[in-house]
Amino acid sequence: MFDFKSSPVFAKDFLWGGATAANQLEGAWNQDGKGPSIADALPGGKQRFAIASQPDFAWQIDEDKYHYPNHRGIEHYQRFKEDIKLFAEMGFKCYRFSIAWSRIFPQGDETTPNEAGLKFYDQLIDECLKYKIQPVITISHYELPLNLAKKYGGWKNRQLITFYERFAKVVLERYYQKVHYWMTFNEINSAFHFPVMSQGLVPSSGSQDFTNVVQAWHNQFVASALAVKIGHQLNPDLQIGCMILYATSYAYDADPKNQLANLQQMQDFNFFCADVQVRGKYPSSTARMLHDHQVNPQDLEITTEDLQLLKENPVDYIGFSYYMSTVTDITHQDAAKSAGNLIGGVSNPFLQTSDWGWQIDPTGLRIALNQLYDRYQKPLFVVENGLGAIDELTADGKVHDDYRIDYLRQHIQAMAGAVTDGVDLMGYTPWGCIDLVSASTGQMSKRYGFIYVDLDDQGNGSLQRIRKDSFYWYQKVIQSNGSEI
Ligand code: BG6
Repeated sequence: MFDFKSSPVFAKDFLWGGATAANQLEGAWNQDGKGPSIADALPGGKQRFAIASQPDFAWQIDEDKYHYPNHRGIEHYQRFKEDIKLFAEMGFKCYRFSIAWSRIFPQGDETTPNEAGLKFYDQLIDECLKYKIQPVITISHYELPLNLAKKYGGWKNRQLITFYERFAKVVLERYYQKVHYWMTFNEINSAFHFPVMSQGLVPSSGSQDFTNVVQAWHNQFVASALAVKIGHQLNPDLQIGCMILYATSYAYDADPKNQLANLQQMQDFNFFCADVQVRGKYPSSTARMLHDHQVNPQDLEITTEDLQLLKENPVDYIGFSYYMSTVTDITHQDAAKSAGNLIGGVSNPFLQTSDWGWQIDPTGLRIALNQLYDRYQKPLFVVENGLGAIDELTADGKVHDDYRIDYLRQHIQAMAGAVTDGVDLMGYTPWGCIDLVSASTGQMSKRYGFIYVDLDDQGNGSLQRIRKDSFYWYQKVIQSNGSEI
């Protein structure tokens, strides 16, 4: 076993930090010219995906009927200085956040950006730089302008490439001298199971037909390649990555049928999108995947120019989220099921689960890092990881979240293990470094942060920020560059 105490494992310039997304913390959903995004039309509560999956779901915002937690977020829009100060106190080297597309182009299809929206990010970026925190920007994180979903049917429509290109150009040109690290789309592969958030596709716009999902992916791949091209034209040294949802997946047993099914699950879910964005071409398993999902390649609009663009503009690194692992089993119909990060699967008897039923598997992270590095040989960045848990604020104003510390410690140990395995790892930004609205359930009570935010699922609370025990623990981790964990 590697001796963490005596040997420096992580590079001197390792990017320790935290991650958030605009729609989950900013609030101010209709302030200073911002238009509504798809996240603003998703009600809070465990039923949010079920509601968005109804055949007649039409993206109507009905505040009399539902509570929309993203509208207020945690009021980061108003309190960002206080929040960045706390990140600086923890010693963050970087901070991953996203730019709300509908703050810059409120309807998504305008030609002129909203200057007030850009001013907010001018200030946010400058505030980070004041503390020598490097911004890591996700250009699009589950916050497509609502109009693009309603009027254009989401990403299946090729016109969105132009709208995204315009948005990416505006923000890259404005910030490329201040921001070195970028990602084009958050968890682009999540559409495999739930295309609402990353593609703006719902049943009424054709989400049930996998052809639309694949067409939407293709349009996003082209848009992503255009962003890489624009960024590298501005400065060839900019680091522009993809971002995938990675769930290490194991075959249930040695039955070759389960082994093959698991291999295909890995190819289709974990690798397909990254293959295109990293290697610049569709993987050899594409035809089989399309066939398995009854997609006729003739129905897809993919031009020779598109393929050339993909080839010429691969990403520089692979950003990925890792929370849990899954099990593939096609031979036991009655096997117990588990919940998960947009994907479920069969329960793994060797693993514990989180309060939300996600299977906790630090070793799976070491496996993920090795699998990704073996395959791509490009730097990796763990841009999301963490434990969504119920926290209790004690009478003396503390949060003793030793369970979160345990989870993060084990995952950092797994990363250290992977580095000793030879993996090139750039950094680590645990998810929801400050409590924010959950993407899948819209709950505030599903907390990930080092910083507690006094706000409940109904939107009540003082919004006061409180340092949890994990805050002080992570501060030491960063100070010691990961040797004191
Ligand atoms: C990732 C997303 O899937 O997981 C985040 O990129 C999300 O936006 C995070 O918040 C955790 O998921 P959840 O559903 O617990 O918020």
